[in-house]
Amino acid sequence: MPPPGSARTASPEYRLSGEIVSLTLIRPDDWHVHLRDGAMLRAVLPDTARRFARAIVMPNLKTPVRTVAEAHAYRERILAARPAGSGFEPLMTLYLTDNTTPAEIERARASAHVHAVKYYPAGATTHSDAGVTDIERCYDTLAALEAVGLPLLVHGEVTDSSVDVFDREAVFIERVLVPIVTRFPRLKVVLEHVTTADGVAFVRAAPDTIAATLTAHHLLLNRNAMFRGGLRPHAYCLPVLKRERHRAALVEAAISGSPKFFLGTDSAPHARATKEAACGCAGLYTAHAGIELYAEVFRAAGALERLEAFASLHGPAFYGLAPNRDHLTLIEAPWSVPPTIDLAAAGIADGLVPFRAGETVAFRIEGGDA
Ligand code: DOR
Ligand code: ZN
Repeated sequence: MPPPGSARTASPEYRLSGEIVSLTLIRPDDWHVHLRDGAMLRAVLPDTARRFARAIVMPNLKTPVRTVAEAHAYRERILAARPAGSGFEPLMTLYLTDNTTPAEIERARASAHVHAVKYYPAGATTHSDAGVTDIERCYDTLAALEAVGLPLLVHGEVTDSSVDVFDREAVFIERVLVPIVTRFPRLKVVLEHVTTADGVAFVRAAPDTIAATLTAHHLLLNRNAMFRGGLRPHAYCLPVLKRERHRAALVEAAISGSPKFFLGTDSAPHARATKEAACGCAGLYTAHAGIELYAEVFRAAGALERLEAFASLHGPAFYGLAPNRDHLTLIEAPWSVPPTIDLAAAGIADGLVPFRAGETVAFRIEGGDA
């Protein structure tokens, strides 16, 4: 429920006038984003801050954000990189390692700025080398998390190279996640960027302590996108895109109205040359259309009136925060995404290839300069 005096609307305004749809919703938050650091942070933060009031910021920097002190310092760098006048609020996370102590979790609870702990299996994805080698080593720390009520955010893929890359989420659920939730029944868990029907089924059947974020790209694309007319590095992310029946299950979950599913873009910028390489990095940059792409998904599914709950209400409820008080208006009016985002102003010679580069996005935000 909204706090007393909050300016939230009972339902989004949904107006059809001729061809134009406009939708006013409580300002959304992004419950999973990579903002990076330094010049890249300064280049990408305005896109997120223009759309979202708050974001859960991933801790997988080159030197991971392992302690509350490091999270506070990173938060200061993010605040300093905000565009003038922006009230964007970064919600910080800690990077779980084999050596994270229960005492660090106590410090996290005492901090007003740390909202969750991220579990990367070692070697699963970008900057995960310092991740967890065996989750059983962290059981004391998970017990501390359960006791203080901070959520564990999970990159849900096994790293066992004998497991097919398309099966790694389902196998992770069976081998790792089920034992965790059985042993720690009150632990809050977010299965981040869920990509399979198996993941959706697990979350639906689990108690209310278990939720999931959904990315726009996994809702919009199936794995064919990686091979459309050739090899497409800009459609490569982790967990990797899955087959169509999984994408359809994700859309069903997103529009279901279940409070267990909420928005997390997983926008993950990598400079062009690191994507277009013999061994390209995983990650799609979607922050430039971070809410607009979800509007496309909900519009195509005939469920635009459910976007507000998914984007603006379910996440705060899970994290125990109030919804935002201001609003954002989306207008169905196509705009062209540039082929590259120039990073020269941020001091990076290379560019960033955004999602839908050279193509169109069907919604824009009112007052946006797209
Ligand atoms: O595609 C991805 N990119 N998946 C992740 O888990 C990490 C992210 C990144 O940091 O680039
Ligand atoms: Zn991520």
